[in-house]
Amino acid sequence: MNPVALITGASRGIGRGIAMELAKVGHDLVINYAGNAEAARLTQADCLAAAKSKIRAEVCQGNVSVAADRQRLVEFTRQTFGRLDLLVNNAGVAPTVRADILEAGEESFDRLININLKGPYFLTQSVARWMVEQAKAAGGGPSGSYRPKIVIVSSISAYTASSNRGDYCVSKAGLAMMTKLYAARLAEHGINVFEIRPGVIATDMTGPVKAKYDALIAGGLTPIKRWGTPEDVGRAVVAIAQDLLPFSTGEVINVDGGFHLRTV
Ligand SMILES: NC(=O)c1ccc[n+]([C@@H]2O[C@H](COP(=O)([O-])OP(=O)(O)OC[C@H]3O[C@@H](n4cnc5c(N)ncnc54)[C@H](OP(=O)(O)O)[C@@H]3O)[C@@H](O)[C@H]2O)c1
Repeated sequence: MNPVALITGASRGIGRGIAMELAKVGHDLVINYAGNAEAARLTQADCLAAAKSKIRAEVCQGNVSVAADRQRLVEFTRQTFGRLDLLVNNAGVAPTVRADILEAGEESFDRLININLKGPYFLTQSVARWMVEQAKAAGGGPSGSYRPKIVIVSSISAYTASSNRGDYCVSKAGLAMMTKLYAARLAEHGINVFEIRPGVIATDMTGPVKAKYDALIAGGLTPIKRWGTPEDVGRAVVAIAQDLLPFSTGEVINVDGGFHLRTV
């Protein structure tokens, strides 16, 4: 039986990269998206084509900021696969307009907190309850055979102050604490929780600021002088999914070309 992964926001960008890498190592997939059904179906087809062994990949629409949609996503996974081994909270949005913190409005703040923080917080709660049930049924716990994982995709914005998108930074800083909270609570059930902090990754989200970051990277923003790719993030998730870090939980994995290093 293949392990099953549910990835939010897997139609495009980083989530798609994560789905592709998990497909290659034999995971069955639930590919979630918000509105772009065509992109989700393309990811589904590409994952099936990339898999080296037989996998299933199903698509499920759902807005992670809406409680009923989150419930439907979990129910869909339960009905379709009957188990879940990995939740990847990836779906997220940038502010529609980057606005100075002295000017930015509540509407953007509410949108970002709802999608980027409240959505994953409560989706993780629902999934964690189900994982605990599954762990108990499997005679689980830290030394059991059912060892599910939860991944939270935050950002270098969790600790980098960009005062022209404070709402985004606050939502990502919240995810950092969320990782610690769920890691502490779920360890006794053998469920390890990880925060992945991507740096500057080439996706639709960073498309509008490409020229700016081309120049910053060339000028030394990151010790590894290139854009990150969705595949870079996907490979970090595979390491977690394959239980290569069994004695780590609440851990931050920087996938950022060394952005977080202080250098002189
Ligand atoms: N790109 C970067 O440099 C970077 C760096 C650090 C962290 N991140 C984080 O990585 C994650 C993915 O970013 P990305 O660059 O891959 O973004 P992206 O290219 O804009 O893709 C966003 C994905 O999330 C989905 N999505 C958006 N809102 C959603 C919602 N309310 N419910 C469910 N799915 C939703 C989209 O679905 P549709 O296709 O249906 O719209 C799409 O699949 C985000 O959390 C982002 O903050 C990105």
